[in-house]
Amino acid sequence: MSLLEVDGLTVRTSDGRTLLDGVTWDVAAGARLGIIGESGSGKSMTALAVLGLLPAGMRATGHVRLDGTDLLALPPRRMDAVRGAQVAMVFQEPLTALDPLMTVGRQISGPVRLHQRLSRTAAREEAARLLRLVQIDDTERVLGSYPWQLSGGQRQRVSLAMALACRPRVLLADEPTTALDVTVQAEVLELLDDVVERTGLALVLVTHDLPVVARVAQDLVVMRDGAVVERTTVPRALAGDGAAYTRELVDAARAVTALPTPEAR
Ligand SMILES: Nc1ncnc2c1ncn2[C@@H]1O[C@H](COP(=O)(O)OP(=O)(O)OP(=O)(O)O)[C@@H](O)[C@H]1O
Ligand SMILES: [Mg+2]
Repeated sequence: MSLLEVDGLTVRTSDGRTLLDGVTWDVAAGARLGIIGESGSGKSMTALAVLGLLPAGMRATGHVRLDGTDLLALPPRRMDAVRGAQVAMVFQEPLTALDPLMTVGRQISGPVRLHQRLSRTAAREEAARLLRLVQIDDTERVLGSYPWQLSGGQRQRVSLAMALACRPRVLLADEPTTALDVTVQAEVLELLDDVVERTGLALVLVTHDLPVVARVAQDLVVMRDGAVVERTTVPRALAGDGAAYTRELVDAARAVTALPTPEAR
């Protein structure tokens, strides 16, 4: 049973350009779906359309079903209740998602209080628990810090903790590790993996980076020019089965990194 179903999702601009064309995929609870494709292929646009966060002047048609409810048909106010609480997003550059003028503690406990109706003290405890979940140990210091007082890796963990604050059922992670160096990247990916394991949420990992997808995802959607080239699995893509375009992506990634062979996974 799939939890989130994207069905024929099409996005057009007011001047009639088609940015997404019939994008279709689905993800089950506890599953990890990777969305891969070159720059401009429509990966971020897909995530934004799922969350109802398209730029002004763009229109989405098709269906985005969460447990059978079509999110595209929801009135804005009901969509506000879904966003963050049921479907959350981690953005590529954590600094843009975090408020520079607010301590981490206030930023995490705000949504926690709103969605879980906790007291101030309980929300603070919950914020500390979330930081431990993303493997931040000096929780008191981090809770009292402003985003710019943290390292890039810590900020990415904090934005992940924020996304998890309302216990979403689906987590959309858009290039969550691109801004990080390789060691921290590996830690954050392990963390995502661990969070899926522990919470059973559905993870949709958007990236242009095939080795990142290969580490975390099982299922794979390959996008190009706003459309889905194919729906496959990571082992099949690595083995060179399927669409020629996917093989090109795999070969290109192999040329620059040590991409695992299917047997080594
Ligand atoms: N605000 C916008 N207004 C008009 N067109 C946009 C806007 N944002 C993105 N686009 C266009 O939509 C298409 C898909 O962009 P999208 O951001 O989804 O690409 P992406 O696959 O996420 O690329 P990247 O890997 O570079 O992040 C591109 O052609 C892009 O130029
Ligand atoms: Mg993008």
